[in-house]
Amino acid sequence: MYYKRLLVSNVRNLEPLDLTFSPSVNVICGLNGSGKTSFLESLSILSSGKSFRSHLTTPVIAREHKAATVFGEASDGNTLYKIGVEKSIGKGSSIRLNQKPLQNNSALARLIPLLVIDHQSFELLTGGSKFRRSLLDWLVFHVEQNFHVNWLSYREVLKQRNALLKLKETQARDVNIWAPQLSDFGEKITGYRAKVFEVLATQLNELSTHEKDFELDFRFDQGWKHDQSLKECLLESFDQDRRYQTTKKGPHRADLLFTTGGKKVTDVLSRGQLKTVVCRFFLALANCYKDIFGNAPIILIDDLPAELDKNRAKILLRQFLNLGSQLFVTGVDLPYFSDIIATEQNIKVFHVEHGIFKELEKDSAINLAAV
Ligand SMILES: Nc1ncnc2c1ncn2[C@@H]1O[C@H](COP(=O)(O)OP(=O)(O)OP(=O)(O)O)[C@@H](O)[C@H]1O
Ligand SMILES: [Mg+2]
Repeated sequence: MYYKRLLVSNVRNLEPLDLTFSPSVNVICGLNGSGKTSFLESLSILSSGKSFRSHLTTPVIAREHKAATVFGEASDGNTLYKIGVEKSIGKGSSIRLNQKPLQNNSALARLIPLLVIDHQSFELLTGGSKFRRSLLDWLVFHVEQNFHVNWLSYREVLKQRNALLKLKETQARDVNIWAPQLSDFGEKITGYRAKVFEVLATQLNELSTHEKDFELDFRFDQGWKHDQSLKECLLESFDQDRRYQTTKKGPHRADLLFTTGGKKVTDVLSRGQLKTVVCRFFLALANCYKDIFGNAPIILIDDLPAELDKNRAKILLRQFLNLGSQLFVTGVDLPYFSDIIATEQNIKVFHVEHGIFKELEKDSAINLAAV
């Protein structure tokens, strides 16, 4: 799948735009605050109905406006999909696919697989477990059709259990009423995750075979003891959970553990090595997706120069291109992209200033990048 066209109005600082893209690589350059991330945000809204920057509607809408619209055309090579998302203050989001209203974001996310690599991605190793879980779940969501509905049900029952745990006089028998349902949904979610993790781990190991500097070990922590059923764990945890007034164990606490030589990667590896691991992780996700579905996800990379040196960036872009991913990469300085602009045939280069996008002719982009 790739984006052919994007039309945007009233998204952050972006002036109304209508752009067509390369199915291969698209480079977007502009100064700080010019609108690069807002542009990527618009592309991500087309894939999920949501921004990767804020789960709220209002911040995305241009100041002094009541609604923002993003319209796009995507193609899988055979079929053209027309997607429209409107975000209104007080009304949330409404989505249309091929002129028909679409009730749930998940159908859109399934249609347009998309991964975002931005400054937050580098917290894969340094940040909390939520982000690692969300990346594993990105793949699980696509691969296991029933994952999403089980996850929503799990969260709903978890909310009920947690509400009871907050009551002063709460009794074990009241809280434990929820254990069978919670463990039923939770075990299913965990089964899906464990299966997908095996595939992902194989990919990550393959991508790491040429690494000479360090060995990477990669494990899945399901969120509670491996040798126990979730139901047993929930029944056993009542006293502790009541003390904390929340459910401390379960698939909502699952994590991915990255170690090297038995130690946490963050305690051993250099910043550059950590970035390499993060990039490989995204590549492994994209590879797994491609192996299963036959086509690669769209990749958005925000502020590439801030995250990677030129050589590492070149290798990463080439690996995604070899997979067949459509790439959108942003950066402040055009010269940083000189190699890819000079060598890649199927490239489009855009300059953005104060929210206004201008496509650069290939020759002019090469000249500007060479400065
Ligand atoms: N709701 C909004 N309405 C209007 N302008 C906004 C809104 N939200 C943010 N902005 C402004 O939009 C501009 C573009 O922001 P954006 O994050 O897209 O810039 P950027 O090109 O990615 O910059 P950087 O290189 O610093 O990451 C900024 O000046 C920001 O203050
Ligand atoms: Mg930005």
